[in-house]
Amino acid sequence: MSICLQVVPSEAQKAIVFLKENGLFDGNLKPAHAAGAVFFPLARRPSQAQAKKLKSLAPSAKTVQWKLERLHVRPRSLEEALERKLSPAERKALIGSFDTVGSLAVIEVPDALKKKAGLIGRALLEVNAALESVYQIASAHKGKFRVQKISWLAGKKQKRAHYKEASCEFVVDLDKVFFSPRLSGERLRIAQLIQPGEVVGAFFAGVGPFPILFARHSPMAKAYAVELNPTAVKNLKENIRLNHVEDRVEPILGDVNKVVPKRLRGLCDRVVMPLPHGGEDFLEAAFLALKPAGGFIHFYQFTDKQNPLAEPLRRVEAVARKFGRSVEVRAWRVVRSFSPVKVQVVLDVEVRAKPNNLGKNK
Ligand SMILES: C[S@@+](CC[C@H](N)C(=O)[O-])C[C@H]1O[C@@H](n2cnc3c(N)ncnc32)[C@H](O)[C@@H]1O
Repeated sequence: MSICLQVVPSEAQKAIVFLKENGLFDGNLKPAHAAGAVFFPLARRPSQAQAKKLKSLAPSAKTVQWKLERLHVRPRSLEEALERKLSPAERKALIGSFDTVGSLAVIEVPDALKKKAGLIGRALLEVNAALESVYQIASAHKGKFRVQKISWLAGKKQKRAHYKEASCEFVVDLDKVFFSPRLSGERLRIAQLIQPGEVVGAFFAGVGPFPILFARHSPMAKAYAVELNPTAVKNLKENIRLNHVEDRVEPILGDVNKVVPKRLRGLCDRVVMPLPHGGEDFLEAAFLALKPAGGFIHFYQFTDKQNPLAEPLRRVEAVARKFGRSVEVRAWRVVRSFSPVKVQVVLDVEVRAKPNNLGKNK
């Protein structure tokens, strides 16, 4: 039984407005119609003054006990959904631990909570109405393709995600390719730097989020999207079609270090290198891909949190010397924290014209 306000139906409208305005209505319970009356759930008994006012608005109003149904109220956060199931410390350990990719969530469950992984997965589904499936991370990103293993926790078993970012659509076979929504801000940031007519080398293109966003949100002429993982290239081709950018994004299956000398030498105004783990092995290819007139390289690296710029800059300068080019870091920033001691940074490096090319446009 719950405490309710009983009124005749003709006075119900006035009564509910008053209850809501005065914080007296209990939104967790469902009002009922029965025995020729309406029963509104009360959060607490009205004060004397409130009861008097109610009587003047709805003369039939009286507080009674009535059995009301509990409404299913969706928890507002994973923490709230797990309030009674995990300790505060356990709940805290889950904060920021999941990404959503379309209707799939991928969560990192700490070892200490592995036994409760199913419960956590179901709680995530409860929190977010748009989610259909929850997977947990079963391995770090590894191998050349930087793929992470995922295992099913709750909801539909489907590893293909349909993801939207900045008005672009992507299909992503999450168990076979690398994908992270965390760099979405970076993609738009770089799109805004691109000048009309630029040719972009989109190295390590994955399923295409960088080059496809560039095609939709920048005045570039064309991007060459180079990717080694055949499944990622399949997704990339589908995404190019989905976003109608066939004329401006060209997919190339292959190793950057082999593709550039054969097909992209001296063609690009800008090269984007989102391979923070090992990208330094491809810096020479980036310099080779740039036009003799110079251009920009966006170089991502995992690096030391205490001194984030030093090592990536040393690497860029070493390759610049080898190519006889001068460079300037026009901007750099920490993109995200990676571990207690490592961060991911991006350096926007301007590579100047070759000395014998100064004064020429291209
Ligand atoms: C960190 S992921 C970035 C993917 C994509 N740019 C994104 O942001 O979702 C790096 C990608 O580089 C690809 N890759 C690794 N080595 C490569 C190489 N030598 N040549 C071309 N692609 C490579 C991997 O398969 C993977 O898809």
